[in-house]
Amino acid sequence: MTPTFTRRTLSAAGLAAAALVLAGPVSADTYPQRPITMVVPFAAGGPTDIVARLVAEQMSRSLGQQVVIENVSGAGGTTGITRASQASPDGYTIMMGHMGTHGAAPALFKGLKYDPAKSFDPIGLAAGTPIVIVAKKDFPAADLKAFVAAVKDGGPKVNQAHAGVGSVSHSTGILFDSIISAKPTLVVYRGTGPALNDLMAGQVDFMTDQIVNVATQITGGTIKAYAIATPERSPALPDVPTTKEAGLPGYEVSAWNAVFAPKGLPQDVAKKLQDSLAQALADAGTKKRILDLGGTVPSAAEQGPKALQALVESEVARWTPVLRAAAESGQ
Ligand code: MLT
Repeated sequence: MTPTFTRRTLSAAGLAAAALVLAGPVSADTYPQRPITMVVPFAAGGPTDIVARLVAEQMSRSLGQQVVIENVSGAGGTTGITRASQASPDGYTIMMGHMGTHGAAPALFKGLKYDPAKSFDPIGLAAGTPIVIVAKKDFPAADLKAFVAAVKDGGPKVNQAHAGVGSVSHSTGILFDSIISAKPTLVVYRGTGPALNDLMAGQVDFMTDQIVNVATQITGGTIKAYAIATPERSPALPDVPTTKEAGLPGYEVSAWNAVFAPKGLPQDVAKKLQDSLAQALADAGTKKRILDLGGTVPSAAEQGPKALQALVESEVARWTPVLRAAAESGQ
Protein backbone atom coordinates (compact mmCIF):
# COMPACT_ATOMS: atom_id res chain seq x y z
CA MET A 1 0.00 0.00 0.00
CA THR A 2 1.59 3.29 -1.04
CA PRO A 3 1.75 5.84 1.76
CA THR A 4 -0.55 8.82 1.29
CA PHE A 5 0.94 12.20 2.12
CA THR A 6 -1.27 15.10 3.06
CA ARG A 7 -0.69 18.33 1.15
CA ARG A 8 0.68 19.76 4.44
CA THR A 9 3.16 16.91 4.87
CA LEU A 10 4.46 17.31 1.34
CA SER A 11 4.80 21.06 1.76
CA ALA A 12 6.66 20.54 5.07
CA ALA A 13 8.91 17.91 3.49
CA GLY A 14 9.42 20.16 0.49
CA LEU A 15 10.34 23.10 2.70
CA ALA A 16 12.72 20.98 4.77
CA ALA A 17 14.46 19.70 1.65
CA ALA A 18 14.71 23.20 0.26
CA ALA A 19 16.12 24.45 3.56
CA LEU A 20 18.78 21.74 3.51
CA VAL A 21 19.77 22.57 -0.07
CA LEU A 22 19.89 26.30 0.65
CA ALA A 23 21.75 25.74 3.93
CA GLY A 24 24.42 23.74 2.13
CA PRO A 25 26.94 21.46 3.86
CA VAL A 26 27.80 22.21 7.47
CA SER A 27 31.10 24.04 7.83
CA ALA A 28 33.09 24.63 11.01
CA ASP A 29 33.34 28.31 10.02
CA THR A 30 29.68 28.77 10.87
CA TYR A 31 29.15 25.69 13.12
CA PRO A 32 27.36 25.64 15.48
CA GLN A 33 24.55 28.00 14.58
CA ARG A 34 21.94 26.41 16.90
CA PRO A 35 21.80 24.22 20.03
CA ILE A 36 23.37 20.76 19.90
CA THR A 37 21.57 17.69 21.29
CA MET A 38 23.57 15.26 23.38
CA VAL A 39 21.62 12.00 23.67
CA VAL A 40 22.05 10.27 27.04
CA PRO A 41 20.76 6.70 26.61
CA PHE A 42 19.64 6.28 30.23
CA ALA A 43 17.30 8.01 32.67
CA ALA A 44 18.33 11.33 34.18
CA GLY A 45 20.32 11.19 37.39
CA GLY A 46 22.42 8.13 36.61
CA PRO A 47 26.16 7.93 35.95
CA THR A 48 25.93 8.48 32.20
CA ASP A 49 23.71 11.50 32.77
CA ILE A 50 26.05 12.86 35.47
CA VAL A 51 29.12 12.71 33.22
CA ALA A 52 27.18 14.04 30.24
CA ARG A 53 25.88 17.10 32.08
CA LEU A 54 29.34 17.88 33.47
CA VAL A 55 30.99 17.96 30.05
CA ALA A 56 27.97 19.44 28.22
CA GLU A 57 27.99 22.47 30.52
CA GLN A 58 31.56 23.30 29.55
CA MET A 59 31.18 22.36 25.87
CA SER A 60 28.28 24.84 25.68
CA ARG A 61 30.66 27.59 26.76
CA SER A 62 33.42 26.82 24.26
CA LEU A 63 31.03 26.16 21.36
CA GLY A 64 28.87 29.20 22.04
CA GLN A 65 25.69 27.17 21.71
CA GLN A 66 23.77 25.15 24.31
CA VAL A 67 24.59 21.43 24.39
CA VAL A 68 21.17 20.16 25.44
CA ILE A 69 20.86 16.77 27.15
CA GLU A 70 18.11 14.50 25.83
CA ASN A 71 17.54 11.36 27.94
CA VAL A 72 16.41 8.54 25.64
CA SER A 73 16.34 5.44 27.85
CA GLY A 74 15.44 1.81 27.23
CA ALA A 75 16.92 -1.48 26.09
CA GLY A 76 20.14 -1.13 28.05
CA GLY A 77 20.99 2.17 26.39
CA THR A 78 20.70 0.80 22.86
CA THR A 79 17.44 2.66 22.12
CA GLY A 80 19.09 6.04 22.58
CA ILE A 81 22.33 5.11 20.86
CA THR A 82 20.47 3.59 17.90
CA ARG A 83 18.42 6.74 17.50
CA ALA A 84 21.50 8.96 17.74
CA SER A 85 23.41 6.77 15.26
CA GLN A 86 20.65 7.39 12.69
CA ALA A 87 20.63 11.17 13.13
CA SER A 88 22.03 13.47 10.46
CA PRO A 89 25.87 13.63 10.76
CA ASP A 90 25.79 17.44 10.90
CA GLY A 91 27.20 18.01 14.37
CA TYR A 92 23.83 18.86 15.91
CA THR A 93 23.32 15.38 17.40
CA ILE A 94 26.01 13.77 19.55
CA MET A 95 25.73 11.13 22.28
CA MET A 96 27.28 9.96 25.52
CA GLY A 97 28.04 6.28 25.11
CA HIS A 98 30.05 4.00 27.37
CA MET A 99 31.62 0.64 27.98
CA GLY A 100 28.14 -0.92 27.88
CA THR A 101 26.67 0.62 24.72
CA HIS A 102 30.02 0.59 22.86
CA GLY A 103 31.74 -2.43 24.42
CA ALA A 104 29.47 -5.01 26.02
CA ALA A 105 26.26 -4.63 24.00
CA PRO A 106 27.33 -6.64 20.92
CA ALA A 107 27.87 -9.69 23.13
CA LEU A 108 24.59 -9.43 24.99
CA PHE A 109 22.07 -7.47 22.96
CA LYS A 110 20.61 -9.59 20.17
CA GLY A 111 19.82 -7.70 16.97
CA LEU A 112 21.87 -4.63 17.85
CA LYS A 113 21.08 -2.02 15.19
CA TYR A 114 24.49 -0.39 15.21
CA ASP A 115 28.14 -1.43 15.19
CA PRO A 116 30.10 0.33 17.97
CA ALA A 117 33.23 0.37 15.83
CA LYS A 118 31.65 1.39 12.49
CA SER A 119 28.46 3.39 13.02
CA PHE A 120 30.02 6.41 14.72
CA ASP A 121 32.62 9.12 14.50
CA PRO A 122 34.41 8.96 17.89
CA ILE A 123 34.80 12.39 19.51
CA GLY A 124 36.62 11.49 22.71
CA LEU A 125 36.74 9.79 26.08
CA ALA A 126 35.04 11.80 28.84
CA ALA A 127 35.68 9.89 32.09
CA GLY A 128 36.80 6.59 33.57
CA THR A 129 34.26 5.19 36.02
CA PRO A 130 35.41 2.33 38.29
CA ILE A 131 32.80 -0.22 39.31
CA VAL A 132 31.68 -0.54 42.94
CA ILE A 133 29.69 -3.41 44.48
CA VAL A 134 26.95 -1.63 46.44
CA ALA A 135 24.07 -2.94 48.54
CA LYS A 136 21.15 -1.59 50.56
CA LYS A 137 22.46 -0.27 53.87
CA ASP A 138 20.93 -3.07 55.99
CA PHE A 139 22.03 -5.96 53.79
CA PRO A 140 22.95 -8.71 56.30
CA ALA A 141 26.64 -9.14 55.47
CA ALA A 142 29.58 -7.54 57.25
CA ASP A 143 32.12 -7.85 54.43
CA LEU A 144 32.51 -8.98 50.82
CA LYS A 145 33.07 -12.62 51.69
CA ALA A 146 29.85 -12.75 53.73
CA PHE A 147 28.06 -10.78 50.99
CA VAL A 148 29.12 -13.29 48.33
CA ALA A 149 27.95 -16.16 50.52
CA ALA A 150 24.58 -14.47 51.13
CA VAL A 151 24.04 -13.74 47.42
CA LYS A 152 24.93 -17.33 46.52
CA ASP A 153 22.73 -18.83 49.25
CA GLY A 154 19.87 -16.41 48.61
CA GLY A 155 19.50 -17.37 44.95
CA PRO A 156 16.40 -15.75 43.34
CA LYS A 157 15.36 -14.25 46.67
CA VAL A 158 18.19 -11.72 46.22
CA ASN A 159 17.29 -8.84 43.86
CA GLN A 160 20.05 -7.33 41.71
CA ALA A 161 19.40 -4.02 39.91
CA HIS A 162 20.73 -3.13 36.45
CA ALA A 163 19.96 -0.73 33.61
CA GLY A 164 19.07 -3.17 30.87
CA VAL A 165 20.74 -5.89 28.82
CA GLY A 166 24.21 -4.79 27.74
CA SER A 167 24.41 -1.84 30.11
CA VAL A 168 27.41 -1.38 32.37
CA SER A 169 25.47 -2.42 35.45
CA HIS A 170 24.10 -5.47 33.62
CA SER A 171 27.35 -6.63 32.01
CA THR A 172 29.48 -6.10 35.12
CA GLY A 173 26.65 -7.56 37.20
CA ILE A 174 26.33 -10.85 35.33
CA LEU A 175 30.13 -11.10 35.30
CA PHE A 176 30.10 -10.79 39.10
CA ASP A 177 27.32 -13.38 39.35
CA SER A 178 29.15 -15.84 37.10
CA ILE A 179 32.42 -15.46 39.05
CA ILE A 180 30.68 -16.18 42.38
CA SER A 181 28.31 -18.77 40.79
CA ALA A 182 25.18 -16.98 41.97
CA LYS A 183 21.77 -16.64 40.33
CA PRO A 184 19.96 -13.64 41.87
CA THR A 185 16.81 -12.15 40.36
CA LEU A 186 17.77 -9.40 37.92
CA VAL A 187 15.59 -6.26 38.19
CA VAL A 188 15.78 -3.88 35.24
CA TYR A 189 15.58 -0.06 35.47
CA ARG A 190 15.75 2.71 32.88
CA GLY A 191 19.05 3.71 34.46
CA THR A 192 20.98 3.24 37.67
CA GLY A 193 19.75 6.62 38.84
CA PRO A 194 16.26 5.19 39.45
CA ALA A 195 17.86 1.92 40.63
CA LEU A 196 19.84 3.83 43.25
CA ASN A 197 16.62 5.34 44.62
CA ASP A 198 15.25 1.83 45.18
CA LEU A 199 18.57 0.68 46.67
CA MET A 200 18.45 3.55 49.18
CA ALA A 201 14.85 2.61 49.97
CA GLY A 202 15.81 -1.03 50.47
CA GLN A 203 13.52 -2.11 47.59
CA VAL A 204 16.38 -3.90 45.82
CA ASP A 205 19.39 -5.67 47.37
CA PHE A 206 22.50 -4.77 45.34
CA MET A 207 24.08 -3.72 42.07
CA THR A 208 27.45 -3.21 40.46
CA ASP A 209 27.51 0.42 39.41
CA GLN A 210 29.76 3.22 38.27
CA ILE A 211 31.38 5.10 41.13
CA VAL A 212 30.22 8.54 39.97
CA ASN A 213 26.64 7.47 40.68
CA VAL A 214 27.13 5.99 44.15
CA ALA A 215 30.12 7.68 45.82
CA THR A 216 28.05 10.36 47.54
CA GLN A 217 25.51 7.85 48.88
CA ILE A 218 28.27 5.54 50.14
CA THR A 219 29.97 8.42 51.97
CA GLY A 220 26.58 9.50 53.32
CA GLY A 221 25.78 6.00 54.59
CA THR A 222 22.49 5.63 52.69
CA ILE A 223 23.89 2.57 50.90
CA LYS A 224 26.95 0.43 51.59
CA ALA A 225 29.89 -0.58 49.44
CA TYR A 226 31.56 -3.95 49.79
CA ALA A 227 34.42 -3.37 47.39
CA ILE A 228 35.68 -1.42 44.40
CA ALA A 229 36.66 -3.53 41.40
CA THR A 230 39.97 -1.77 40.67
CA PRO A 231 43.59 -2.68 41.53
CA GLU A 232 43.90 0.37 43.82
CA ARG A 233 41.43 2.02 46.20
CA SER A 234 39.69 5.20 45.02
CA PRO A 235 40.76 8.51 46.62
CA ALA A 236 37.04 9.33 46.72
CA LEU A 237 36.29 6.18 48.76
CA PRO A 238 39.47 5.52 50.78
CA ASP A 239 37.69 3.17 53.22
CA VAL A 240 36.27 0.87 50.53
CA PRO A 241 38.57 -2.11 49.96
CA THR A 242 39.49 -3.35 46.53
CA THR A 243 38.00 -6.69 45.46
CA LYS A 244 41.49 -8.16 45.74
CA GLU A 245 41.89 -6.98 49.35
CA ALA A 246 38.38 -8.21 50.14
CA GLY A 247 39.05 -11.72 48.84
CA LEU A 248 37.66 -11.63 45.28
CA PRO A 249 40.77 -10.99 43.15
CA GLY A 250 39.21 -12.27 39.96
CA TYR A 251 36.68 -9.41 39.72
CA GLU A 252 38.42 -6.26 38.43
CA VAL A 253 36.44 -4.11 36.00
CA SER A 254 36.17 -0.44 35.13
CA ALA A 255 33.79 1.41 32.85
CA TRP A 256 34.21 4.58 30.85
CA ASN A 257 31.99 7.22 29.24
CA ALA A 258 32.73 8.78 25.85
CA VAL A 259 31.24 11.17 23.31
CA PHE A 260 30.34 9.92 19.83
CA ALA A 261 28.66 11.40 16.74
CA PRO A 262 26.80 9.64 13.94
CA LYS A 263 29.17 8.44 11.19
CA GLY A 264 29.91 10.93 8.43
CA LEU A 265 30.59 14.13 10.34
CA PRO A 266 32.52 16.77 8.33
CA GLN A 267 36.11 16.61 9.60
CA ASP A 268 36.28 20.28 10.57
CA VAL A 269 33.04 19.97 12.57
CA ALA A 270 34.35 16.82 14.30
CA LYS A 271 37.55 18.67 15.19
CA LYS A 272 35.55 21.52 16.73
CA LEU A 273 33.68 19.02 18.92
CA GLN A 274 36.89 17.19 19.86
CA ASP A 275 38.57 20.46 20.87
CA SER A 276 35.49 21.51 22.85
CA LEU A 277 35.48 18.22 24.79
CA ALA A 278 39.22 18.52 25.47
CA GLN A 279 38.69 22.06 26.79
CA ALA A 280 35.88 20.81 29.04
CA LEU A 281 38.17 18.15 30.52
CA ALA A 282 40.95 20.72 30.99
CA ASP A 283 38.59 22.94 33.01
CA ALA A 284 39.69 22.76 36.64
CA GLY A 285 36.15 22.79 37.99
CA THR A 286 34.97 19.99 35.72
CA LYS A 287 38.03 17.86 36.51
CA LYS A 288 37.47 18.37 40.22
CA ARG A 289 33.81 17.35 40.02
CA ILE A 290 34.65 14.16 38.11
CA LEU A 291 37.48 13.30 40.54
CA ASP A 292 35.39 14.10 43.63
CA LEU A 293 32.81 11.58 42.39
CA GLY A 294 35.53 8.95 42.04
CA GLY A 295 35.81 9.20 38.28
CA THR A 296 39.09 9.56 36.43
CA VAL A 297 39.90 12.18 33.80
CA PRO A 298 41.54 10.80 30.66
CA SER A 299 45.13 11.86 29.99
CA ALA A 300 45.94 13.79 26.82
CA ALA A 301 47.12 10.50 25.25
CA GLU A 302 43.78 8.83 26.13
CA GLN A 303 41.72 11.69 24.70
CA GLY A 304 40.91 12.22 21.03
CA PRO A 305 39.17 10.14 18.37
CA LYS A 306 41.96 7.69 17.50
CA ALA A 307 42.39 6.60 21.10
CA LEU A 308 38.64 6.20 21.52
CA GLN A 309 38.29 4.17 18.32
CA ALA A 310 41.06 1.85 19.52
CA LEU A 311 39.39 1.58 22.94
CA VAL A 312 36.02 0.64 21.42
CA GLU A 313 37.58 -2.02 19.22
CA SER A 314 39.57 -3.49 22.12
CA GLU A 315 36.60 -3.43 24.51
CA VAL A 316 34.27 -5.21 22.06
CA ALA A 317 36.97 -7.83 21.47
CA ARG A 318 37.62 -8.18 25.22
CA TRP A 319 34.03 -8.31 26.47
CA THR A 320 32.38 -10.43 23.78
CA PRO A 321 33.82 -13.85 24.83
CA VAL A 322 33.74 -13.01 28.56
CA LEU A 323 30.13 -11.89 28.60
CA ARG A 324 28.84 -14.57 26.27
CA ALA A 325 30.34 -17.12 28.69
CA ALA A 326 28.84 -15.29 31.67
CA ALA A 327 25.43 -15.14 30.00
CA GLU A 328 25.62 -18.87 29.15
CA SER A 329 26.38 -19.63 32.80
CA GLY A 330 22.69 -19.06 33.37
CA GLN A 331 22.16 -15.33 33.91
C1 MLT B 1 24.57 1.52 32.93
O1 MLT B 1 25.13 1.16 31.91
O2 MLT B 1 24.35 0.84 33.93
C2 MLT B 1 24.22 2.95 32.91
O3 MLT B 1 25.39 3.69 32.99
C3 MLT B 1 23.28 3.34 33.93
C4 MLT B 1 22.97 4.79 33.85
O4 MLT B 1 23.79 5.58 33.36
O5 MLT B 1 21.89 5.12 34.31
